[in-house]
Amino acid sequence: MGQDRRKFIKAMGIGSVAAIATPAQVWAKVKEPIHSAVRDITDQKQHTTDAYWKTIQSQFRFADGLTYFNNASLGACPVPIREATMQFRNTLDDFPSKYMWGGWDTEKENTRKKVADLFSVSQEEIALIHNTTEGMNLIARSMNLQPGDEVISANHEHASASSPWKVWQEDKGIRIVRPVLPILPENVEEIVDVYRKAITSKTKVISICHLVNTNGMILPVKEVSQMAQEKGILVAVDGAQGAGMFNVDLADLGCDFYTMSAHKWLFSPKGIGIFYAKKESQVHLKPLMVARGYKDTSIRRLENYNTRNLPELLGLGAALEYRTAIGSQKIHDRTYELKHYFRDQIKNYPKLRLKTPALDSLSAGIQTVEILGKDVKEVKKQLFEAYGIDCRPMSGFGLNAVRISLAIFISKKQIDILVNALNNIANT
Ligand SMILES: Cc1ncc(COP(=O)(O)O)c(C=O)c1O
Repeated sequence: MGQDRRKFIKAMGIGSVAAIATPAQVWAKVKEPIHSAVRDITDQKQHTTDAYWKTIQSQFRFADGLTYFNNASLGACPVPIREATMQFRNTLDDFPSKYMWGGWDTEKENTRKKVADLFSVSQEEIALIHNTTEGMNLIARSMNLQPGDEVISANHEHASASSPWKVWQEDKGIRIVRPVLPILPENVEEIVDVYRKAITSKTKVISICHLVNTNGMILPVKEVSQMAQEKGILVAVDGAQGAGMFNVDLADLGCDFYTMSAHKWLFSPKGIGIFYAKKESQVHLKPLMVARGYKDTSIRRLENYNTRNLPELLGLGAALEYRTAIGSQKIHDRTYELKHYFRDQIKNYPKLRLKTPALDSLSAGIQTVEILGKDVKEVKKQLFEAYGIDCRPMSGFGLNAVRISLAIFISKKQIDILVNALNNIANT
């Protein structure tokens, strides 16, 4: 290169190729805040004490004065994961064309592997999508249903899971069967029975939520899948509220499809979803969108959007590293510990009524409670305005109850404050 050209390049401030970070360098940089957060967690000697959970709580950040009992609406993302995702965004925007189409393939596959390991399945059964809504659309739009075919979708299904079937009903004359679930079942068989009775010779799909967003009831996906499999019926699970809150072993559940929003209980950046399809059931699926590579025979064909939210996808990988450091079993156990603590407190107050089934097989980290004689919308308003507590009011199904999410960043002290606040509102 001539001296004049070199001078010109320098004067223009044009960088040299050596300034571009390799994916490995980016990961090394990104991992530091995660590792230091993880060190803070693992250095604690007593891994189940409140002090241990206080350290984890300190790694989440909320607006001043806010107590967030609303993880079921939208999950919180720990600060180290936010920082890691920001690094991915910055790296991408420093050189936009480099990473999107191949530069981060290995990291993307590593994330897929981490997801597969967490849910005890093969990485060839996992697609990385955007959310549960997309996953349910992907399933419904793929099906080859005929007029008169039946899809079971119980009355507590979320609109994201029932709407794609409604479109089928409106356009093609399939029939949606909507059995009514009990609000406070006392055992699992009560719910299995509802599904058993809804099945007919025309049933093609059972669309079932793992944990309903209304009153936090867990539905018996394993038992329903066994029943369905014997009759050649496909089972599609909306796992938006299940995955990450408690242990989920997809191979053991035996369903055909399971879709989740990682931005809820997996605490990932927003706009990342996970889609599981059992190897032998993948033949039923067609991509919602097609782009170059649509003939890929692997499950990756279902996530092929060309330009997409890659920093958030890698942020999910970071969120799973963080989760693994804590340990899934520990998260599962803590969720149930908080549930029992909350329910035991509520039982002390006659004007507070639990609207979520008691058994651990029937509920976990979402609990609903009604204040007798008070309108839930007013209760929600007072909780926020007087105490800075955010939660979701649930009016449907006669619940008239606030929905309380007990994620791992919630402390027992915060539960005390919440219960005290509910009792105060009950007595005003
Ligand atoms: C049970 C259930 N399914 C589906 C969804 C939709 O989730 P997303 O908006 O992430 O697709 C939600 C959201 O709250 C939900 O609770």
